[in-house]
Amino acid sequence: MLAGMRPLRGIVMAAGTGSRLAPVTLGVSKHLLPVYDKPMVFYPLSVLMLAGVRDVLLITTKDDLPAYQRVLGQGDHLGMDIRYAIQQQPGGIAEAFHIGRDFIGSDPVSLVLGDNIFYGHAFTPMLQKARATNTGATLFAHAVHDPRRFGVVSFDADGAVQGLVEKPQNPASQYAVTGLYFFSADVVDVAVSIAPSARGEREIIDVLEVYRQQGRLQAQLLGRGFTWLDAGTPDSLLEASMFVQAVEHRQGMKIACLEEIAWNAGWINAQTLLTRLDQLRGTPYGRYLDCVLNGQGGGGQST
Ligand code: DAU
Repeated sequence: MLAGMRPLRGIVMAAGTGSRLAPVTLGVSKHLLPVYDKPMVFYPLSVLMLAGVRDVLLITTKDDLPAYQRVLGQGDHLGMDIRYAIQQQPGGIAEAFHIGRDFIGSDPVSLVLGDNIFYGHAFTPMLQKARATNTGATLFAHAVHDPRRFGVVSFDADGAVQGLVEKPQNPASQYAVTGLYFFSADVVDVAVSIAPSARGEREIIDVLEVYRQQGRLQAQLLGRGFTWLDAGTPDSLLEASMFVQAVEHRQGMKIACLEEIAWNAGWINAQTLLTRLDQLRGTPYGRYLDCVLNGQGGGGQST
């Protein structure tokens, strides 16, 4: 735990049907598809880790659960506690707080969507700032070319959140609400109080709206030097892979290498990292872990 801060729990939302990627997703969960050299879910999970989260609940479908357990296990290799829960139907992102009620208990929680990828300078301090304001909620906004595809946030002249609309026809700003959120523990009560939307989903934007009306919503802007991708369509999946490949080739450092983050955080010892390395030996990922273990390269994400 970070000094002076309350424990933060994390939820990864990795259910849904992945229908926009069918037929690819007929046999495998969208969030386990490769984004260049690792499964998609590594990227959002790495964000929770950078925020200092060690207790994670991954919510997925009944059919896909065994695959996630094979990939991530109980998190021992990362010095984490990873648990699993099932969402029976894709009833909306805010169902995370119904399903995760017991897991959250009386702790603040960060929620990340399983298809969201974040990469940029000084991200970790932003996460820690969000974490420190744990009596309300924090969203992260990023300017996009076509805001109609996303939840959209608009701001008043003082920079306070003015409006929130899910997939508006006429967006009030260019700022999409990204799939990363920090909430106080009472988010469970807030989520229970909201009704399903016209499309039958419990919308995360409606949860944020309650916090806004209560004057408890903060927004952090991810600037133009920051990259935010969601990998939910064939094109965005390919673009995400090419982006990760380009950065990793150029820098010689991996994005979202979970073992590296755990190692840098002091959550795992050399023996644990070596055991993992042995499982992955002979792969580029394994060679990278070897460098991390031996202090050559790696040594910290540029986030
Ligand atoms: O990516 C950011 C956007 O994510 C936000 O701007 C929107 O406000 C938010 O509603 C969401 O929009 P999407 O259209 O991308 O939501 P989608 O239904 O694609 O779900 C996003 C992820 O959440 C996806 O990886 C699957 C997971 N999910 C979704 C639903 C509806 C679940 O696990 N369960 C669900 O019931």
